[in-house]
Amino acid sequence: MDYTAIQALVDSDMQAVNTLIQKRLQSEVVLVNQLSHYIINSGGKRLRPMLALLMARACEYQGSNHIDIAAIVEFIHTATLLHDDVVDESDMRRGQDTANNVWGNQAAVLVGDFLYSRSFEMMVDVNEMRVMQILAQTTNIIAEGEVLQLLNVNDADTSETRYLEVIYSKTAKLFEAACQLGAVLARLPKEHEQQAAQYGIHLGTAFQLVDDILDYSADSAKLGKNVGDDLAEGKPTLPLINALAVSESNGNSDDAALIRKAIEEGGLEFIDEIMLIIQKTDALKYTNDVAKKETQLAIDCLDFLPDSDYKTALAELALFSISRTS
Ligand code: IPE
Ligand code: IPE
Ligand code: MG
Ligand code: MG
Repeated sequence: MDYTAIQALVDSDMQAVNTLIQKRLQSEVVLVNQLSHYIINSGGKRLRPMLALLMARACEYQGSNHIDIAAIVEFIHTATLLHDDVVDESDMRRGQDTANNVWGNQAAVLVGDFLYSRSFEMMVDVNEMRVMQILAQTTNIIAEGEVLQLLNVNDADTSETRYLEVIYSKTAKLFEAACQLGAVLARLPKEHEQQAAQYGIHLGTAFQLVDDILDYSADSAKLGKNVGDDLAEGKPTLPLINALAVSESNGNSDDAALIRKAIEEGGLEFIDEIMLIIQKTDALKYTNDVAKKETQLAIDCLDFLPDSDYKTALAELALFSISRTS
């Protein structure tokens, strides 16, 4: 099953999600409308809503609240992107200028807040306490993750464990919620709900690991984001953390010192040297191997589901998360 076939499976649901998204973006304030439509309509893979829809369907959910959940999850995702691009000082997203680049940091942050709070209004409409609980906790953990990441920036002693904590919070948590909520809506037993949640965690972790690889290896035009942003910022992601660890354990102190300097000071001055060290230490392969393991763990979590095209699609999406180039 290729990506187009997966999309086709939930095509009518996704159209309903997009209609709901457009409806709930409405605001009396012109700038809110402009900026939010700009980012939402600029593309994006709609991966999290797709997961929510597929999981609900795979759990044989018969109602319509999965449409709301999918739209809410995309609103939360979009809000985090608006804030993230300000914090990361990024100027390209989805192949176009970031909102902060067009309207400035203040507008981007405030419209991010609008999307967060609108998503809370939509959660209330679903009128299920469990849904509220999961999504409220999720937004809180994401915020913590971004703060935790801020603390790691320019810190060359950031360990793999601390890095994994950050990517769980900032990225995997929302994947977890999207998937768990499919099972919650379908009223599955707790242990199945947990399996759905775990699938989301492992997939989300693999997804961010690959994002961090692509930041060193992708083609900017294809990725729709600037490559090298993480290094420029002094953000210690696994490719750098591993390259540093391997250089140190090989006794290659010059290389280790250069990576430390790059993390501590940020900037792209030494990008060519850093890329060579990353190649020499096989740090991208190491990161990819961790992602592959997470993908397999995700697929293993799907055993509880009855066989269906939706289940197959969920397994395929896990594989897609590591083979993607954008
Ligand atoms: C970007 O997520 C942020 C990360 C967690 C890496 P996506 O790659 O899903 O972004 P869009 O929605 O497709 O643009
Ligand atoms: C993901 O981290 C950000 C969020 C989960 C909001 P990144 O900073 O790596 O995401 P990109 O690369 O800007 O999309
Ligand atoms: Mg970023
Ligand atoms: Mg990134």
